[in-house]
Amino acid sequence: MRVLITAGPTREKIDPVRYISNYSSGKMGFALAETAARKGHRVTLVSGPVSLVSPKSVRTIFIESAAEMACEVRRLAKSADLIIMAAAVADYTPAKFAKDKIKKTRTVISIRLKKTEDILAGLGRTKRKGQILVGFAAETSELLKNARLKLEKKNLDWIVANEVGKKDRGFSSDNNAATLISRRGKKIVLPLQSKKSLAEKIIRILTTEHTEKH
Ligand code: CTP
Repeated sequence: MRVLITAGPTREKIDPVRYISNYSSGKMGFALAETAARKGHRVTLVSGPVSLVSPKSVRTIFIESAAEMACEVRRLAKSADLIIMAAAVADYTPAKFAKDKIKKTRTVISIRLKKTEDILAGLGRTKRKGQILVGFAAETSELLKNARLKLEKKNLDWIVANEVGKKDRGFSSDNNAATLISRRGKKIVLPLQSKKSLAEKIIRILTTEHTEKH
């Protein structure tokens, strides 16, 4: 299969020396890419800034902002059979980029933010027949309810629901737990384990689904 995976955070520039980002390490997306390539799939990885080495046999493209990720993903999605959006894309970006470094003159300042493009929702709108679209839902509360809403709203085939904000899992951790929910209502619970072993299971489930569909 031709597999497109996104990973890591995005960086949204405020001025020449500052940016807004999040705690995503990229480990889950990189583990998924590494596993899929090892299983013989043709993998392209689009990643935000992370301190990880590009997996063997994976074509890795590094981007910085949500807008850059949107651009690359839109281009690459056309020829992908399976798309997994594991990246923690920034939801908001500064409304204006300050050309000069913002000076420390006032006690309180505010930065106006505007919504970024929802890349996954866009892919859901242009999804080809047979193409499998998978999203991640990073939640701090009402995990399954919020994940199901995202699955429907973004026209996904699967959503990987995972809790964030806990020390032992998610974002920067080496471990994670996840629940996979399919559009047909299938629910698969994967308990806390290393991201590498979780990646094995997720890839197996998603590629089996592909075989079943065709
Ligand atoms: N996503 C995306 N483009 C964005 C924001 C998110 O493609 N601008 C994708 C993520 O890669 C992930 C999924 O959407 O696969 C869900 O991301 P999440 O942050 O959990 O949800 P949001 O849709 O951003 O909603 P909210 O932040 O309100 O929970």
